[in-house]
Formats: sequence, structure tokens, C-alpha cells
Amino acid sequence: MIVTIDGVAASGKSSVASGVARALNIPYLSSGLLYRAATWAALEHGLTLDTPQAGRTLAQLLTGWEERGQPLRLRPLTEGNQVWQAERDLTEHLHTARIDAQVSAAAVLPELRDWVNAQLQGLTPPFLAEGRDMGSTVFPQAERKFYLYATPRVRAERRVLERHQDLESVEAALKLRDERDARQSAPALDAVHIDTGSGTLPEIIAQVMSHLPA
Ligand code: C5P
Repeated sequence: MIVTIDGVAASGKSSVASGVARALNIPYLSSGLLYRAATWAALEHGLTLDTPQAGRTLAQLLTGWEERGQPLRLRPLTEGNQVWQAERDLTEHLHTARIDAQVSAAAVLPELRDWVNAQLQGLTPPFLAEGRDMGSTVFPQAERKFYLYATPRVRAERRVLERHQDLESVEAALKLRDERDARQSAPALDAVHIDTGSGTLPEIIAQVMSHLPA
């Protein structure tokens, strides 16, 4: 079985995905974490993301690591996904304001989208895949698809609990990321839409579970 949960930034996707995956006893895959890790790699290597050759250069960096036996890999642990490169856990570097600000520029590069999609499609179901285009593009064959949303204010209020920034600037940054991510964020036509501002985390998880086979 494949279940997909897509949605806008800070819509609660990861927490809901993790809770649902735990209830189903299957792993969840955070596609956003792979985009974040590739962005981190690009920045570490001084790669400028808005040039015509950026996608090719970033893909070469990622496949170069692969060829040297030091691949960038998602570890889809149920309690929280990690990304490792060879023996190095990169996870703690990936949820920063710096990566938030740059990740959309990397995520529009077709070469990076192909690389992320190939990583995910190479994994064996059952799993729950979480991101922006999991139901629409990467796993159109998924048995159940969900799309999570909430107002920018609700999402910003959640995010300030994780990032020590003021509400106004967090909300502005989220709206900007929504605009930049719009192209790859259209919900799958057959997704169930859920407003995560209208309930607690256990209630939203229960709502998703009510659409899944017992
Ligand atoms: O889910 P999260 O907010 O961590 O994703 C980080 C970024 O990765 C998004 O803002 C978006 O630019 C990109 N992304 C994407 N497609 C996905 C998942 C994430 O473009 N399936």
C-alpha cells in the first residue's frame, strides 16, 4: 500500500504523516527533507542556484557522491526521517531559516526533481510519502491521497514555536515559499482535503485514519 500526504509549508504534514505511519505500522518518507539536503549540499559547495547550469551542476555533485560510494540517502525512520551522506547525519542542518529561504530555488530545478523522485520510487512499498507532489506526480497510483492546508497565520503560529523568529516575518516567509512552490504543489485531483487548523494533531490523524481501510 502507498499513502500520500501533500500540503503547503508548515501545514503539519510531517507530524500528521509520522502519526499516521505509526498507526499503520509503515515507514513514512519525507520528500521535503531530500530537497532540503540537496539545498544544503549546494550551499556548502558554493553553488549558485539561479544560474542556467545550476541543475546540471547539482545533479553532478549528487551523482559524484553516489559513484564514490558516499551517497546522500533518506533514512525513513518512523519517529522522524533523517538524511545521511556517507557516515554523516545532516538532519540537524536542514530545518534552518537559511535552508527555508533557499530550498524553493533548488526545488524548481528539473534535474533535482528527477533525482528526488528516483530516490523515492526506488523504495519498496508499503510506505506513506509526504511532500508537495507525491499524489499528483511521484506516486499517482497511491491507494489513498491527502492534501493538508491551513491559513498562513495558523501555520506561522506553529512555526514560531520551532524557529525563534517573530510571527510577522515567519508569516511573510511562508507566503513567499507558497508562491515559489506553487508550480509543484497542485493537489492530486483524487486527494481528500483536510484543514489542519480545525483540530488538534490527534484529531487530524484520526480524520486521516477514518479514510483508510481498517
Ligand atoms: O516539506 P518541507 O516544507 O520541508 O519542504 C521543503 C521544500 O522542499 C518546499 O518548500 C519545496 O520547495 C520543496 N518540496 C518540493 N516537492 C516536494 C517536497 C518538498 O518541491 N514533494
